[in-house]
Amino acid sequence: MNFDELIERRGTQCDKWDSMETKFGVPAEDGLAMWVADMDFRPPACVTDALRGMLGHGVFGYYGSDTNYREAICWWMQTRHGWTIDPTWIFTTHGLVNGTGMCVEAFTEPGDGVVLFTPVYHAFARVLKAAERKIVECPLVNNDGRYEMDFDAYDAILDGSEKMVVLCSPHNPGGRVWTKEELEGVAAFARKHDLILVSDEIHHDLVFPGSKHTVMAHIDGIEDRLVMMTATTKTFNIAGAHSGNVIIADDALRARFAKRMGALGMSANSFGVVMAEAAYTAQGAEWVDALLEYLDGNRKVFDAGVNAIPGLRSMPLEATYLSWVDFSGTGMARDAFTSRVEHTAKIAANHGPTFGSGGENFLRFNIAMPRVRVEEAVERLRGAFSDLQ
Ligand SMILES: Cc1ncc(COP(=O)(O)O)c(C=O)c1O
Repeated sequence: MNFDELIERRGTQCDKWDSMETKFGVPAEDGLAMWVADMDFRPPACVTDALRGMLGHGVFGYYGSDTNYREAICWWMQTRHGWTIDPTWIFTTHGLVNGTGMCVEAFTEPGDGVVLFTPVYHAFARVLKAAERKIVECPLVNNDGRYEMDFDAYDAILDGSEKMVVLCSPHNPGGRVWTKEELEGVAAFARKHDLILVSDEIHHDLVFPGSKHTVMAHIDGIEDRLVMMTATTKTFNIAGAHSGNVIIADDALRARFAKRMGALGMSANSFGVVMAEAAYTAQGAEWVDALLEYLDGNRKVFDAGVNAIPGLRSMPLEATYLSWVDFSGTGMARDAFTSRVEHTAKIAANHGPTFGSGGENFLRFNIAMPRVRVEEAVERLRGAFSDLQ
């Protein structure tokens, strides 16, 4: 558990480091990769040991008999989230972007509206566009640097063509851990407009002290229209495994989802399953606790540094390692502040507008890296905007 170790990821087909020159013009030799949401850390030893076990055996045939895998998922949800699930409720998809796409396939038709609370994780809109669904943006309210929801305003936006709402909880990119009351509001909104609610809780393990994640399944009166999505991949930094879980308690909804999975001939990848089973253990839990402590330190360093630069303001992170920084105080046009970040500071960060309306003046910075790199990023930003000080 040495999160300070600088691990060279360049030259390993790593999207975050190896694509930043092509995608952002940030040079590979001295750029800092702070975009894609994976961490520059190794996963816990229990995960790599499980993979070593597979390699040692050396036969990579079809995976079956997944009782232990399902039990490991149930154990994690129970012990870490107080959420009791039945092993038969679990589907394994090729990650949660795929899980989202599968929900779109199973529960909506081309032309149907799907509600997103924007700005939000960009792949939702990408999937919806590709599937020819109508994206219905319900903008989050930026209340002095904190996102909130305004259901009265959203009621007026919907036109009756909507069939589904996708919630990101905790929220990427705003770092919010929605309160129980806010989640009750989302549930009431879904009921009122007769929407299936897909709750993407991929960031649920990455919650900082002071905040408490509420599992959407614990909100009363939503179970008959609720689809939960969770994964090991963000928590344990194994996103390349492309594995995630769609968990559906309601029998009728589950049957619809199962039918679509079957029609597309989907089944799990053994590497993702083996890693997940190894991760959802006491050793995995111990590693996550240490990770959170480290990330908590990183967010403090990043926030203190960034918020000391006039014109820049980061949203306080209650969860996730993705810091959403508002550049509107610089008074600069988007191209101008982005150019300083990419060409002067040589940092690749996600562009705000890709997250939908409300993201125009923001960049998203991934701070899941050794602390010296976070400090380096702050120094570079300070230098790039030094004329504002
Ligand atoms: C909210 C959310 N859902 C899903 C994903 C990606 O999921 P996967 O890699 O399992 O497709 C991300 C990645 O950042 C995310 O933030």
